[in-house]
Amino acid sequence: MTTETLEIRQAGRDDLQAIRQLYQAVRGNNRPEDFDRWRWFDSPDGECPMAIALDGEIIAGFYTLWPVRLRIGAAVVLGGQSMDTMTHPDYQGRRIFTTLAKACYETAAACDFQVLYGFPNTLSYPGFVRRLDWNHTGDIQHWVRLLRPSHHPRMPGVVGPFADLAARALPRGRGGRDIEISMGKPESAALRDLLESWRDDSGLCRIERTPEWLDWRYAHAAAHDYEWICARRDGILVAAGIWGMQNADWGDVADGRAHLVELLGAESAGLRAVVGAVIGRATTRRAWILETVTNIPPVISALRRGGFFSHRGAPLIVRALGDSEVDNRIFDHTSWRFMGGDLDTM
Ligand SMILES: CC(C)(COP(=O)(O)OP(=O)(O)OC[C@H]1O[C@@H](n2cnc3c(N)ncnc32)[C@H](O)[C@@H]1OP(=O)(O)O)[C@@H](O)C(=O)NCCC(=O)NCCS
Repeated sequence: MTTETLEIRQAGRDDLQAIRQLYQAVRGNNRPEDFDRWRWFDSPDGECPMAIALDGEIIAGFYTLWPVRLRIGAAVVLGGQSMDTMTHPDYQGRRIFTTLAKACYETAAACDFQVLYGFPNTLSYPGFVRRLDWNHTGDIQHWVRLLRPSHHPRMPGVVGPFADLAARALPRGRGGRDIEISMGKPESAALRDLLESWRDDSGLCRIERTPEWLDWRYAHAAAHDYEWICARRDGILVAAGIWGMQNADWGDVADGRAHLVELLGAESAGLRAVVGAVIGRATTRRAWILETVTNIPPVISALRRGGFFSHRGAPLIVRALGDSEVDNRIFDHTSWRFMGGDLDTM
């Protein structure tokens, strides 16, 4: 069998169950169905362009892009994050992934997607870089803060309590007495001001944040029970963050890992206060670890003050799409700024 004998086509809502079957065959489990619907079909920029390969009734492969607005310098363009790349184990090694990716890029280019980014694993990396013209610009650090290591599924019972004690001794990075912390989304005007100041540096490439996008990205359907935490001084919002973890909808698949997905604001005391509060909330919800991926300098300094450390990087790959002239800053690693929620896995 070769890719020529397969049916390659754009997928849609009617293919949801087939794609979930493939996910089950590749990963050995499934995500909540509402999560998949939310992620593939309900983004503010429309349905994901999705390509599938069929061998008769059997779904052999799937490739998709998550639409997202990117701010490149002063311009905002339609971009896509590469995600959910999968080929059925019986069909791997036959160029299905690369064939599907090319088909998906054609659909995406016709819909005016201009810039793609992704964080591939070791299995898909060679295909992206060698066969699909992606550039590996550099790595973005993955940050972790241990909370209750004894809740890790592979932690030996006798070691757990000592590991928990050590984690409790880590700093929390509180912000200061004059900072007041509260849960819940900030009022619209204050959030707009925070986002406005966050946008100030126009020399960068980053995922555009609007109140509408944040509402969708951290919606109930994402099944992570995302929670806003705000830091105020004298009633003025100085920083805000969002964190979440897989909730009961994930059943046995839930991994007990909490994710810090947003940390907005320029004031270091406010950022530190939000980090400290997230550590407290995630511990209460029995997460064993709190993690994020970021290369934003003030965020990194707040994480360090909160006892986070980084032990590895995630490779950032980037690609231009379509015929329009692309801003070359996308190929310069130092231009990019990422925060946890920019990755589909957080
Ligand atoms: C990654 C995956 C999608 C590749 O699918 P595939 O259809 O077998 O890939 P292709 O046949 O199109 O191979 C593309 C290129 O990647 C290389 N490649 C594929 N699997 C590889 C592996 N395990 N190790 C090293 N290279 C690999 C191939 O050699 C090929 O390069 P070549 O044409 O120069 O030989 C598939 O292994 C998979 O579904 N894995 C499990 C899910 C997963 O990890 N997805 C990636 C999430 S980021």
